[in-house]
Order: sequence, then structure tokens, then C-alpha cells
Amino acid sequence: MISETASGKIILFGEHAVVYQRPAIAVPVSQVQARVTIKKSKQPLTIQTSEVLPTPLRYGALRENSEVLISYADLRDDDPLKAIIQLTLRSFKVTPPHATLTIHSTIPIASGLGSGAAVSTAIVRALAQYFKRDLDSAAISSLVYEVEKIHHGTPSGIDNTVIAYGKPVYFVRGQPIETFNVARPFRLAIADTGIQSPTKIAVGDVRAAWEADKDRHEKIFDGCGAITQQARKLIEDGQPDQLGSLMNENHKLLREMGVSCPELDDLVDAATRAGASGAKLSGGGRGGNMIALVNEANEGEVREALMGAGAKQVIITTVTSDQ
Ligand code: PMV
Repeated sequence: MISETASGKIILFGEHAVVYQRPAIAVPVSQVQARVTIKKSKQPLTIQTSEVLPTPLRYGALRENSEVLISYADLRDDDPLKAIIQLTLRSFKVTPPHATLTIHSTIPIASGLGSGAAVSTAIVRALAQYFKRDLDSAAISSLVYEVEKIHHGTPSGIDNTVIAYGKPVYFVRGQPIETFNVARPFRLAIADTGIQSPTKIAVGDVRAAWEADKDRHEKIFDGCGAITQQARKLIEDGQPDQLGSLMNENHKLLREMGVSCPELDDLVDAATRAGASGAKLSGGGRGGNMIALVNEANEGEVREALMGAGAKQVIITTVTSDQ
């Protein structure tokens, strides 16, 4: 049996502005993962998933305990699972195998942790192993990007890049990817509002606001870009404890863009009151996750404060060069 995984991800700086060619920084989060296994079978290709993934809900598929089974042939062409499998098989010039492809993911969906891109990446990796193909990170990333367009409309490409490369990335849309050195590891608390918020909607609203007042929004995006550049320098120079004020500033600009919400603001306030030196929403916003800069001394208190302020889950992760 073949088994492959892909980590979740979190954006540290620069979300939304990255759609408008400003830089953003994102890192993998290995505490949450998508896992895909492929087992040969006598039947045509069948997908087995848990009900937490969106696809089974759409098909009302056959249930076995909490698992659902769907025949690959029955999936619609615009379904993200169908799309990534089809694209990968086409690139290998092979037909669907007689096998069962099982997907399990611990990454919450529609909450800024890269669930869609991680499931797609794990599928490509598993199919590559099944058909004994050698795919590099760039090839995986570009297959996954095609499917991100179904999920997100006009994605910048940051999710597929950070997840397929599995390393911290400094990302500028349309430019070759840059990984960078994390001179001193640092810790983040990642807290989930529990509100699912499709990125597509927040991105569309920012676009409409930008169309209505380009000058104002270009200035906000410039501010985010400058923050991202300073953050990269601090991370490379081994001064990650100074990132807090940049996070606070970035959160302020995201609020100005209109992509925060009361629940995210409450978590940001709770984290800073409990001793985190900075905090911000992460990803599309309007729900999903926020991040706070913590250290070993204050992470317990920050976690408690976040749970007390309504977080549904708090993950503590350490950012290093190789995750
Ligand atoms: O919500 P997420 O983590 O998938 O991130 C979206 C990031 C945006 O900058 C808002 C959109 C994009 O395509 O980069």
C-alpha cells in the first residue's frame, strides 16, 4: 500500500496584498496533515473519504461508519478531487488505476490552513509513488495550482507553493519561489475561530473595494509588502522575537481592508493581553485562524486566554527552516 502526506500551512505576513504582487511569507504547519493511501483493488478507482471533506457532502455518497465511498467515474469534472486526480493521471499519460484512494485530513476546511492544497498535494504525491514517477516540488505545485483555481477563483499560488515545497517561503506572485533561512526557531499559537470562511468571498470583496478606491488600497498593500520585507529580515537575522509589532501592524492593515471580524479581533486582543508580543489574522480572514507570537514562558497563558475568548482549537507550532 502507498501512503503520502502533506502538511497544512499558515500565512505569517502579506495575505491579500499578495494577490496584488506584494510579497507574503508562509510556513508549513506539520501538526495538521492530509494523508492519502492507495491500495490496488479489482474495482475501478474508488475514493474513500471522511465526511469532514466537502466532496462527500456534495454527492450524498455511500456511507460506511463515518467513511464515504465514491466511484471516481461518478465525480463531476469541476470537483476538486476529480480535477487533481485527472490532471495528474493525464500528466503521467495513464488511465485511472483499479484501486482505492483513501483521504484523511486533520486540517480544518475553509479556515486558512491550506486544507484544499494539502489534500491535492498528498494525492499527487501518492499517485506519483503508485506510478513510480519522480515529480519535483515545482511540478507538484503547478498541478495543485490548477485545482486551487477551482477552490479560490484567482489564487495567488502561495498555498500550493508552501505546501508542495514543505518549507517556509517568501512568495511574490509570478516570480520564482524563494525559500529562506529561519536563523532562530520561533513559536506561534494558531487559534481557530471555528467560523468557516471561503477565501474566494473575502478576496472578491477586497477586489471590489480596490476597484472603488485604488489609491487607498494600493497604499494599504504597500504597507503590507513593507512589513513582509522587514519580517523576512528579522527572521533571517535571528531576531524573531521582534516580529510581534509587525504582526500587530499587519493586522491593523487587514482590518482596514475589511477582512477581519469581531471574533478574530477578540482572539487577537486576548492573545496580546495574555502576553503575546503580537497577533494577527491569517489567510483570507472573516473567520478561520489567527496567529500569535509566543514563547515557552507565555504560551500556556496565551493558549488559555485564546480558548477563553472563544477559540475552538489552539495549535502551538515551532517555525524552523525545515518543517
Ligand atoms: O485563506 P487562505 O489561507 O487560503 O489564504 C488566502 C490568502 C489570500 O492572500 C487571501 C488569497 C491568495 O490567493 O493568496
